[in-house]
Amino acid sequence: MSAPIVSVENLRIRFPTQDKRETVKAVDGISFAIEPGETFGVIGESGSGKSTLGRAVVCLLKPSDGRVLHGDTDPYTLPAAELRRRRRAYQIIFQDPNAALNPRMTILDSIREPLDILGEVPRAERNRRALEMLDRVGLRSDFAARYPHELSGGQKQRINIARVLTVRPRLVVCDEVVAALDVSIRADILNLFAGLQREFGLTYLFITHDLGVVSHISSRIAVMYLGRFMELGPAEALVRQPLHPYTEALLSAEPIPLPAAMRGARRILLRGEIPSPTDPPSGCRFRTRCPAARAVCATDEPEWRELNPGHFVACHFAGTVTGTAVQ
Ligand SMILES: Nc1ncnc2c1ncn2[C@@H]1O[C@H](COP(=O)(O)OP(=O)(O)O)[C@@H](O)[C@H]1O
Ligand code: SF4
Ligand SMILES: [Mg+2]
Repeated sequence: MSAPIVSVENLRIRFPTQDKRETVKAVDGISFAIEPGETFGVIGESGSGKSTLGRAVVCLLKPSDGRVLHGDTDPYTLPAAELRRRRRAYQIIFQDPNAALNPRMTILDSIREPLDILGEVPRAERNRRALEMLDRVGLRSDFAARYPHELSGGQKQRINIARVLTVRPRLVVCDEVVAALDVSIRADILNLFAGLQREFGLTYLFITHDLGVVSHISSRIAVMYLGRFMELGPAEALVRQPLHPYTEALLSAEPIPLPAAMRGARRILLRGEIPSPTDPPSGCRFRTRCPAARAVCATDEPEWRELNPGHFVACHFAGTVTGTAVQ
């Protein structure tokens, strides 16, 4: 098998709180690898550290501890110019379709901008490539002369995809890319992502708070809670037979997109809010909301165990606590 596109090794990312008196442990000890051509989904509630993880994977944030390897290289060991050159293979698309678009630039200029910055090919060739990408994301060439405010959210997200594809990335982090879009067009955009993946041999890190979205597109799924992975496994196994009470709760709360067989028979209501990442609970960090918590969960941190081949979980009672749902 070829080397992973990305290897994340015991990654920690900390931020000072606004008053600088405490530390936010946004990512707090995560390890995994993404294989070429796969879609690696990360799901979790808002505030669980997903965006921080995604930004670290594309070197927009430097690890506080641990490493992110691109192939077999730690990008931060490279000279600055080499780091910039390598980083282009690792791109990110954000939730807000406007985030990367300059309202004063035409669509063609926006798509061409990453190539302009690289400055490696003549302008005519850059224009040609930008127009080609406009076509690949399903928009007519007359969009080229328009401005962002003339486009819908879905069309803007297509432009954002075209922009990153111009530099021929190997991996694209998709951070809640359909969350801001009207429900009626989400499937179209997800299908576009899937089609472009096949066409360009892309690998995705697909971040979302919506299990319906991630189960639709991912080969593997990681479930994130307060800066840690709770469970990681093949998408189908994780959705059909979740091993962690948190995954079970997320699945049971899923409204429509999952087929009935994939939804838990009973609805599990998660108690309370996600705790503060400045001071995660002792032992298992999910224990304050877990319907299956016992005394040991407050004192001992659960190990990261491979319960089934390729299916990992951090829960003392994994495999024995499913069905602990409360009505
Ligand atoms: N630049 C930052 N400075 C301080 N805290 C941050 C910063 N970025 C994120 N955080 C905090 O880190 C935690 C994880 O945030 P984030 O990665 O955005 O989560 P998610 O994407 O899962 O909603 C949150 O508590 C958030 O407030
Ligand atoms: S270790 Fe305990 S608190 Fe944590 S998920 Fe498992 S049962 Fe719940
Ligand atoms: Mg986020």
